[in-house]
Amino acid sequence: MKAPAIQDLTELDAVIELASLARDIARHDRLYHAKDQPEITDAEYDALVARNRALEARFPHLIRSDSPSRRVGAPVAEGFAKSRHGEPMLSLDNVFSPEEFIDFCKRIRRFLGLAETEALAFVGEPKIDGLSINLLYENGAFIKGATRGDGAEGEDVTANLLTIPSLPQHLKQPFPASIEIRGEVFMEKADFINFRATQEEAAEAREARRAAGEKLGDAVVIPANPRNAAAGSLRQLDPRITATRPLKLLAYAMGAASEAPAETHHDFLDELRRWGFAVNPLSRRLQSEDAAESFQAEIGAGRAALAYDIDGVVYKLDRIDWQRRLGFVGRAPRWAVAWKFPAEQAVTKLLDIEIQVGRTGALTPRAVMEPVNVGGVVVRHATLHNEDEIARKDVRIGDTVMLQRAGDVIPQILGVVLEKRSTDAQPYAFPLNCPACGSHAIRDGEDVVRRCTGGLTCPAQTTERLRHFVSRRAMDIEGLGEENIQTLFDAGLIKSPADIFRLHQKREILAGFEGWGERNRTPNSWGGIITAWKPGALP
Ligand code: IVH
Repeated sequence: MKAPAIQDLTELDAVIELASLARDIARHDRLYHAKDQPEITDAEYDALVARNRALEARFPHLIRSDSPSRRVGAPVAEGFAKSRHGEPMLSLDNVFSPEEFIDFCKRIRRFLGLAETEALAFVGEPKIDGLSINLLYENGAFIKGATRGDGAEGEDVTANLLTIPSLPQHLKQPFPASIEIRGEVFMEKADFINFRATQEEAAEAREARRAAGEKLGDAVVIPANPRNAAAGSLRQLDPRITATRPLKLLAYAMGAASEAPAETHHDFLDELRRWGFAVNPLSRRLQSEDAAESFQAEIGAGRAALAYDIDGVVYKLDRIDWQRRLGFVGRAPRWAVAWKFPAEQAVTKLLDIEIQVGRTGALTPRAVMEPVNVGGVVVRHATLHNEDEIARKDVRIGDTVMLQRAGDVIPQILGVVLEKRSTDAQPYAFPLNCPACGSHAIRDGEDVVRRCTGGLTCPAQTTERLRHFVSRRAMDIEGLGEENIQTLFDAGLIKSPADIFRLHQKREILAGFEGWGERNRTPNSWGGIITAWKPGALP
């Protein structure tokens, strides 16, 4: 439903809506910052914040003491010591168009009393989607580091930060006696995809142990995007776990400092490099608003090819004396802004919902859609997660759906365009039987996943287990690709892992398969090579 126009609202409407926005935004802040499990997209969150701001502008006397515009992030989670920032860690206002960026520049000129003709120089920096951290250095030595938290104090994650290779533990001379350095901890897209696969494996293995009746510890978190993966990794209570995660750090700002290290932001970035920090090599000094506009287009065009996710570009006024004069309003500086890219979204038709059966019998729904271009990538499939997710979004076959490539990686269905729903569309009935073997599929206790009870009588479970057995993550049997498993299984040649090692007895049959023949190297019985054996990875 579209929200009513602000000018049509009565005071009572506004009171009610402001209360509900304060509650909703606080909840989404908690999900995002404290739990690393957001339920809405950044664009949806930005829309809530924008609506709140518009309401407050129209009804300033109704601004609540717990207004979201007065808060940043989320309070410190349990389990970490608190760490107070020397200077608050604030947020940035967003702009979405050249007009809004020009307005931002006009406000700067007005505030500083500059002529219209006076050029403003900025530094543009890709806005990486990770989590911001504050690092305190005293006499050049790294003392402690914290997450942003509520802006005034964050979680002390010093031990975890020390596991990040790109974090300098000592600054190169000369340096201020005391300085807070701010930057972003993030995970690159390729690292995220590998990490997610590892977590999916771990979740499956855990499920297999659960099915075998073992008592289990914490659930395995499968992060939805690189940001969640980075945040979850940095906020581990055991730094040994953080150490195994591929985290990177780029520095871009400072907090409290005993002396000013530079007169322009551009020179400050050079100082950061000299002290030993990694600074984004794409950061650039831009001599005018026009140059900023071109930079926005240039970075936007190259966005998909970057190794990490960005959701916009941050523009910072280059002159630090001007930054000081401009100061802050609410929770954001007047001298910097985040120019966000449009969300990578598209609308298409849902043709079907396929059910895939995993190694442990998990039934996973997958959306099959009319191919559509989402931010330069053709998307045909999207994850629907599980049965509850389909019910919650009430996704029906034939519906027109809104898609998003979350964090540029895994396409998600955001919701249904209800106006386009046909009157005879039926709610989706999740299968109660396994589509592969017909056995009952059941949900156990609180498990959100429905599972096939067929065990090894289910051909899908069996082939998935065999596939896993030969995969790189388990036995790593070179030459027996996962795709060959289906052929061998369909031909009745393998039913269990042991059969793989008896394949040499079936040489004559195999030789008759198209494209299959005798191999020269026969280090093991079937003709392939086991290149690695990963303990604990067996089906
Ligand atoms: S400067 C007062 N620079 O964006 C200046 N922030 O919405 C505040 N971010 O919490 C931050 N890249 O997590 C700055 N080059 C960059 C950034 C950046 C990403 C994030 C950061 C911050 C958020 C502000």
